[in-house]
Amino acid sequence: MKSRFLLLPAVSALAIAFTGCKSGGGDTIKVGEFASITGKEATFGISSHEGTLLAIEEVNAKGGLLGKKLELLTEDDQTKAGEPANAVNKLISKDGVIAILGEVASSRSLEAAPICQQSKIPMISPSSTNPTVTQVGDYIFRVCFTDIFQGAALANFATGTLKANRIAILTDVKSDYSKGLAKNFKEKLTSNGGKVAVELDYNGGEKDFKNQLTTIKADSPDAIFLPGYYNDVALICIQAKQLGMDIPIFGGDGWESDSLITVGKEAVEGTYFSTHCSPEEGTPEMVAFVASYKKRFNGKIPDAMAVLGYDSAMVLADSIKRAETTESVALRAAIATTKDFAGAGGKFSINANRDADKPLVFIQIKGGKFTYKATVKP
Ligand code: PHE
Repeated sequence: MKSRFLLLPAVSALAIAFTGCKSGGGDTIKVGEFASITGKEATFGISSHEGTLLAIEEVNAKGGLLGKKLELLTEDDQTKAGEPANAVNKLISKDGVIAILGEVASSRSLEAAPICQQSKIPMISPSSTNPTVTQVGDYIFRVCFTDIFQGAALANFATGTLKANRIAILTDVKSDYSKGLAKNFKEKLTSNGGKVAVELDYNGGEKDFKNQLTTIKADSPDAIFLPGYYNDVALICIQAKQLGMDIPIFGGDGWESDSLITVGKEAVEGTYFSTHCSPEEGTPEMVAFVASYKKRFNGKIPDAMAVLGYDSAMVLADSIKRAETTESVALRAAIATTKDFAGAGGKFSINANRDADKPLVFIQIKGGKFTYKATVKP
């Protein structure tokens, strides 16, 4: 493992030279993707991969770019720490990809980003929202908002919409996303005059949350904020109901997965979360995307990760077209100057921090369905 890292600069310099030749003479443009196709957060990886694949297929159906077809090389990181580094090292050094798309989860993007940065291979995360992801360097981009915005929107939702002022927070200490979102939420909550009633931790993947929930219950807060991922959230909601707790529970984009409902059932009914977009949004780009996604994937309704996976690949394609090359310095500059891009998830620009300024939507689970509630503009 260690020697792999030490070797990286030399190997990737070769890979860049190799890619340089390739884009002149090779017959495809190789695009790398790393995603959690299997493992604990598989629904994230599958959705974002499907959106990404659809975009690549659409670009190819229209003739490809620079006279070549795009070739998507996907590595499954199995939702395991350590695998994102292996995946991008392989994609860059062995496969010679010109850019990397991924990941959904912030911790996994943060693991891969330094490798992409060092190799000068542009990386576009579809949906990692932790602010530090793009701070890794000038080759790292995202096509979504950050948790500075999402945390503030959730705090405003708590104090404004729910009229809840004393909030209990249960954070997954294994996830950079969860820790960051909790921090950004707290900052805005306190500036709104609200209070953290009690703040407790868990390790993502744990199955028993009764200890933490009993402590929270004893403190009788107005609401519970869960800045975690869907699988843990479903179990927490079930166990809260078992303890007879009946206060509002809400969270962020990490909640978005059909499994939240299939596992959580009536325990998640009435809960709220914020996310990137809703298939119910009637923009022409969203309508077109939903139709082609359903056609391609047997009637499946796309979620936010599918939309953002699609947009990440389309931003890359648009940038290759504008740069008129896949050479990394020029390609990086083209991605950085993406302006008013009409994505499936809405129109956006890449800002000076290499993030996207975009609105957020609130969803409520009603009748076992994700129901669109409201949009919050940046
Ligand atoms: N924003 C989450 C993270 O940074 C990932 C995520 C995005 C989850 C969109 C669900 C939907 O880890």
